[in-house]
Amino acid sequence: MTARGERLPVVLVGAGAVGAALGRAAVSAGWPLAAVVCRQAARARDRRALVGAGTPLSLTELLGSTPLPPEEARLLLLCVPDREIAPLAVRLAGRTWPPGSVALHVSGSVPVSALEPLAAAGLATGGLHPLHSFVDPERDAESLAGSVAALEGEAAALAVAREFAAVLRLQAFVLAPGTRALWHAAAAHACNHLVALVAQSLELLARAGLPEPQARAALLPLLRGTLENLAAHPPAAALTGPIARGDDAVVAGHLAALATAEPDISAAYRALAQRAFRLAVERGLADDRRLALAALLLPARPEARP
Ligand SMILES: NC(=O)c1ccc[n+]([C@@H]2O[C@H](COP(=O)([O-])OP(=O)(O)OC[C@H]3O[C@@H](n4cnc5c(N)ncnc54)[C@H](OP(=O)(O)O)[C@@H]3O)[C@@H](O)[C@H]2O)c1
Repeated sequence: MTARGERLPVVLVGAGAVGAALGRAAVSAGWPLAAVVCRQAARARDRRALVGAGTPLSLTELLGSTPLPPEEARLLLLCVPDREIAPLAVRLAGRTWPPGSVALHVSGSVPVSALEPLAAAGLATGGLHPLHSFVDPERDAESLAGSVAALEGEAAALAVAREFAAVLRLQAFVLAPGTRALWHAAAAHACNHLVALVAQSLELLARAGLPEPQARAALLPLLRGTLENLAAHPPAAALTGPIARGDDAVVAGHLAALATAEPDISAAYRALAQRAFRLAVERGLADDRRLALAALLLPARPEARP
């Protein structure tokens, strides 16, 4: 194994949304694909057609007398559902892998230690989590370039993961030790909770007389504009609205109106308004505006106020 990371032929285990997209992107970037493995052979043949290279194998075929040449080291890329990773590692460790082989999983939340049986079998283990929402392998293989990939693992696994990410034109960075749960929470908070936030907003708009789908159509340009502002500026500079302007009377009106909304909506509003307030302070609020907003939004502990 070189420090740079060899282009080990990939054994793609699991060719669903992520596996098929990564496999397809790897093939079009010239990375060798040894096998496409699904639970059933027929499914493996279907998915191999989508990936574009590799020997289609059932999991049983891979674990048994495999047609893969035994002398060549491989990159096992585990793209199976999170709950399947640890049991699959146990099963995969039951066969011999050539020296220099590497196993990576692509989950954001499962610790690399789930691959321990493979490490015990002599493979270098790690994780490569692409921060991308995978739905359609053909489209995702095209749009993957530029996404960030969080890497973790022992040196030999990291070297191969870096090379794989580079070939797929992913922006790789190495997770600080023990921070995988934080990394995944951050991704879920920004992506999944944005959806929950929009659902809350839609509920308020429905009460104001604007039902779906008109309400969703009304919010989307606002959301797109906000994302574009965030693309161009850091959060403190991208913030707009009454808190950015220091308009405590408007915020007080919001809080009063939300007193009759579902409790999760008023709680989320207050929690996020507190962070918006910190951003507004960072940008520079006049003292009287800062104190008025702090009195409205912050818990009644003077030492907690900026
Ligand atoms: N979807 C995303 O946006 C996303 C983003 C980043 C990371 N991830 C991670 O990517 C991984 C895969 O997620 P996914 O969204 O691609 O799931 P998926 O679309 O459900 O694909 C999983 C694939 O694994 C196969 N499979 C299931 N159990 C298996 C086993 N025991 N052995 C071999 N293959 C098995 C499945 O069935 P068949 O064998 O029938 O084909 C399926 O093709 C997960 O770790 C997930 O956390 C997902």
